[in-house]
Amino acid sequence: MQLYELIRRKRDKGRLSDEEIEELVTGFASGKVPDYQVAALLMAIFFSGMAAEETAALTLAMMNSGDVFDLSDIPGPKVDKHSTGGVGDKVSLILAPLVAACGVRVPMVSGRSLGHTGGTLDKLESIPGLRTDLSYAQFKKNVSNTGLCIMGQTKRMCPADRKLYALRDVTATVDSIPLIAASIMSKKLAEGVDALVLDVKTGNGAFMSRTAQARKLGRTMIAIGTRLGKKVVALVTDMSEPLGEAVGNAVEIVEAIEALKGRWRPDIEEVTLALGEEMLTLAGLANSPAQARRLLMRALTRGLALEKFRQMVRAQGGDPKLVEDYAILPQPACRIEVRAATTGFVRSIDALQVGLLGVRMGIGRQTLDAKVDHSAGFLFRKKVGDRAAKDEVIAEVQGSSEARVKEAASRLPAFIIIGGTAPRGNGMVVARLDGSANSRNNHRGH
Ligand code: URA
Repeated sequence: MQLYELIRRKRDKGRLSDEEIEELVTGFASGKVPDYQVAALLMAIFFSGMAAEETAALTLAMMNSGDVFDLSDIPGPKVDKHSTGGVGDKVSLILAPLVAACGVRVPMVSGRSLGHTGGTLDKLESIPGLRTDLSYAQFKKNVSNTGLCIMGQTKRMCPADRKLYALRDVTATVDSIPLIAASIMSKKLAEGVDALVLDVKTGNGAFMSRTAQARKLGRTMIAIGTRLGKKVVALVTDMSEPLGEAVGNAVEIVEAIEALKGRWRPDIEEVTLALGEEMLTLAGLANSPAQARRLLMRALTRGLALEKFRQMVRAQGGDPKLVEDYAILPQPACRIEVRAATTGFVRSIDALQVGLLGVRMGIGRQTLDAKVDHSAGFLFRKKVGDRAAKDEVIAEVQGSSEARVKEAASRLPAFIIIGGTAPRGNGMVVARLDGSANSRNNHRGH
């Protein structure tokens, strides 16, 4: 393979063949192809883009660079959900047990906090004893026995993606739609799922802040899935304010359990049920969104979803008594209330700035090996559209470091805008994409 020729062709907006992409990825993963040439090729892709065939070939090559799970001997439909990441996004922790309680098998390989966005694994690991570094065999056993398992990417899953992502990270080539789509889809398709529901976030707390870009990412991922024989649906959902009330790790576990007890905020309810309807329909367990919703609500109100969560915690080494006793979770040493400076309506809560403040508090990581503070978090007692009286508590900030909590509490009010009138609500689901002409646009985005 003449790598120079591939770089030149991509630079000039030409196409790479499936065989060339496969050889390139294999050579890069094994160390035969030098980083500097791949870096140049990545930059050429960043500017020239990739055709649907090329993106699918890249996905396949990265997926096949490591273990691909085979769950075909587990009876029943296997469906996962992936979120492109947000602030306060604890939906996986609610949705996975909820749909598993309806009969869907959920093999979920999740990630850690990335930039200003939170990570499902960091949230789960705030449960003492709970392990997310499981083997393939253990993962498969849990999916088979419990119906769900949430674990981290093993070293042998998509190693080419890991190496390529590290190179993208230092060459300013992360935010390329075909590269993001192939990276996400290679890991999701390696899970052995039959179908996938994507939650593509839009708004200032999302990686794709503009709705047109979020849609394009959704469509690109659907095209990859379809080419590789999987059913994929994407919902574009709002991430312009943090999702729900809690942002953090342990605090989001509590909010997820409360949701599973039927006490959920309307934004979380709307996103979770919309994604759940898609998962049940793709799994063939419901013929219509209305029927899917009935099944989901039955699993919730009968306590079956909460029981699934308990079973998942037990199967992964955590103490299921946590569901009744939140004191089992790491407790903060310091808590500060933030009060409204004026009377009015909350007009906006800046999700990006809250996420960045969260990283400084230890909710996420400033460096790869930084330790997470599982007790750190925000609780938004007022959300966009709520009325707040002067001096009323609008948020709480907590964590193990008094200095960090004080700093965050002093900076937070700048990111919560209170005005004289209530903002107009648009609903959480901005668009539904399924790769067909039926894709739906719910409201004009950003
Ligand atoms: N998440 C991924 O897994 N890959 C990307 O490229 C971006 C976000």
